[in-house]
Amino acid sequence: MQLTPSRSAAPLSSLALFLLLCCHMTSTLSQKSDSALAVVENTEGEVEVMDEGDEGDFEVVQPTEEWQTLKPGQAVPAGSHVRLNLQTGQREVRLGEEQLKYLDQEHRETEETSISPEELKRVMKKIKEDMKPESAEHQDSVASRFRPMEELKREMAELDLLVQTDDQIMRRLLEQFNSSSSTTEQRLSILLELEYLVHQVDNAQNLCSMGGLQLVVETLNSSDFRLQQSSAFVLGSAVSSNPEVQVKAMEGGALQTLLTMLATDQPLWVKKKVLFAVASLLRNFPFAQRHFLSRGGLQVLSELFRGDRGGVLRTRIVTMLYDMISEKELISQAGLDPGLHASHQELLRQYSLVSLREGLLEEGWCSLIPELLDSPEHDFREKALRAMLALAPVCVDQYRSHSSLKVSLLLLREQYQDMIQSQMILGEENEYFEEMMDLINALHFKLR
Ligand SMILES: *[C@@H]1O[C@H](CO)[C@@H](O)[C@H](O)[C@H]1NC(C)=O
Ligand SMILES: *[C@@H]1O[C@H](CO)[C@@H](O)[C@H](O)[C@H]1NC(C)=O
Repeated sequence: MQLTPSRSAAPLSSLALFLLLCCHMTSTLSQKSDSALAVVENTEGEVEVMDEGDEGDFEVVQPTEEWQTLKPGQAVPAGSHVRLNLQTGQREVRLGEEQLKYLDQEHRETEETSISPEELKRVMKKIKEDMKPESAEHQDSVASRFRPMEELKREMAELDLLVQTDDQIMRRLLEQFNSSSSTTEQRLSILLELEYLVHQVDNAQNLCSMGGLQLVVETLNSSDFRLQQSSAFVLGSAVSSNPEVQVKAMEGGALQTLLTMLATDQPLWVKKKVLFAVASLLRNFPFAQRHFLSRGGLQVLSELFRGDRGGVLRTRIVTMLYDMISEKELISQAGLDPGLHASHQELLRQYSLVSLREGLLEEGWCSLIPELLDSPEHDFREKALRAMLALAPVCVDQYRSHSSLKVSLLLLREQYQDMIQSQMILGEENEYFEEMMDLINALHFKLR
């Protein structure tokens, strides 16, 4: 799960959220986590997550009228106002302007102090109807206490003019980052702010043209681990699904620097983010993949894999390799289609230069990946099984001569069979275990 922050997008749906939040806030000012979670559900992913990867363990902060400091890993509902306090270097959040405005209005216009959930639902339904241009009937309901949609939109447009554009913000941040008087703490929070901004394709591209990407790449070489980690995070987010920025990062020498970081002594938490940056840089980018291979990337990863006893990096590495294998496979399969576009032919040619499977075979991955099967985590095993199947065309001889692989597979199969047959687990889990069985059987079949 990777939720993408949406700062300036989707005004209409955010609007619904403002209103919902406002009702919620007036009625349940003192309740916290419950209502925050409800908001998250209702808006389907409109939550801003400030960390990549560790899905599921972020905490949603419910903003109030007062500024409160955000801790790393905390998320806020869309529409909240987040700012960087340059004195303290902390990120802070409070209710967004619209939310505050309506909170005020509610206080002024009505003596009512609570709105029942039923009423709230009715309001939400009404708001949705209001959004359809043809429906203009205004009943004497709770919804009529809100101002008409058109007026609201006009005010929001005016507000937009007052708010600094992302470009202005980035320029200011970069200036401050580059200033010799900035402290490490300030630089760290600036990087966090940039990381947030570059999720938007345009912002990441503008960062390049402002010279900011190069600044970020240079910061990878900093002597401070925290700066290394944060700059890798910004870089990874900036190149994600953004071909133009991927090219710029390659030109700026990012790949070589990242590989050096992976190959040298660094704390695990730094390497985690560096790996994220490498994976994002290589994704759907055969040119970078080819350079990754020719610069010994697979060897660097295999040493990392061998040294990672805890398993935190192992799964990420195998997932990344699996993604690369299947990416190439998908392109080649589509390549069998006659009447193909010329650009696809070129893509096909570029992928043909990426000798991924051969490289994996050479660097000993045929025997490394099966080690993940011993993990107690279903997820790790699944990644291992999928990668092993994808590598079967080059690895099958080594699988067959592996001393314990067959036994491991049989034991796993037994274990999943037992779990499926037991009455304890629920439908969804059962499906997952059946999928695992299919993977195990498919692999077992290849070993015969
Ligand atoms: C950072 O500062 C240096 C010199 O002080 C300057 O050459 C460079 O353009 C600045 N970079 C950015 C992105 O502002
Ligand atoms: C980082 O440092 C290494 C070694 O000092 C150097 O080769 C590399 O070019 C530097 N990378 C960047 C982006 O400055």
